[in-house]
Amino acid sequence: MSTRPAILIARDVFPEVVERLQAHFDVETTAPGVTRTAQELAQSLQGKVGVMTTGGERIDATLLAACPQLKIAANIAVGYNNFDLEAMTASGVLGTNTPDVLTETTADFGFALMMATARRMTESEHFLRAGLWKQWSLDLFAGAEVHGSTLGILGMGRIGQGIARRGAHGFGMKVIYHNRSRLDAATEGACGARYVGMEELLAQADHLVLVLPYSPAVHHIIGATEIAKMKPTATLTNIARGGIVDDAALALALRERRIAAAGLDVFEGEPAVHPDLLTVPNVVLTPHIASATLKTRMAMAMLAADNLIAYLTEGRALTPLNP
Ligand code: DGY
Repeated sequence: MSTRPAILIARDVFPEVVERLQAHFDVETTAPGVTRTAQELAQSLQGKVGVMTTGGERIDATLLAACPQLKIAANIAVGYNNFDLEAMTASGVLGTNTPDVLTETTADFGFALMMATARRMTESEHFLRAGLWKQWSLDLFAGAEVHGSTLGILGMGRIGQGIARRGAHGFGMKVIYHNRSRLDAATEGACGARYVGMEELLAQADHLVLVLPYSPAVHHIIGATEIAKMKPTATLTNIARGGIVDDAALALALRERRIAAAGLDVFEGEPAVHPDLLTVPNVVLTPHIASATLKTRMAMAMLAADNLIAYLTEGRALTPLNP
């Protein structure tokens, strides 16, 4: 019988990541396409001291009570709203995430999704593929200007700052932001961004991009009331987390053209998507891929693996959340 610590990789990951972990642990892997219910996850974790998770695996008090040997959960994500950190700390279980390695890649995508939304890229592609294009015309899929317009950012962490830099320095945008706390003057200067209150952010942004972490305190922070304060010509892009936006209220506002368009990479209850969003034309929908380049996803998974190795072999993780 092996005396090496046992861990679970709760999702299918790159073979290189499995190999790195197998040098240290007995590893249970997960086949492509497989996800576990909470009960199945608890069952698979019996006898395991570590688990590599994604946002789809919830580590909460119920799971922790069923898995007393667990010492660490290493999330392959910078967001960690799937972790109940308080319960983990109380059970002596460390959580880790993958900051920094995905910042610029995710900022690229956030900016691209905002642009695709403003310039109606998927809506016009569907039109073309359906064989509906009969002539060039002046107002065919005329969208909203990006360069020189006002970019609003809600949540000004590393990724928000990356989007701000792209807007201010690459596209000559006026950048305003709102955040729990104001950035220092030097960081604001480097991002070309100005701090405003939430009301001003909603009222002034031509393109509002959401990049804040999810917590129950920000559940549906963008709902019908907030959308009503936006310009009717504005766009809304969410690369943060589902649940930050009230998807039903957004779908209705899009249908009634109370804002021009939305770009959504994340959804409440994903991978399910609110059915009303699937039937409005002025929304660009992507399946939670903002950090998805091969290089970045490899770096994220390797950092999660290195957290497991460092903590379980030396007692010191690289990017701990609750040390
Ligand atoms: C993150 O890193 O939080 C991304 O959203 C992937 O889950």
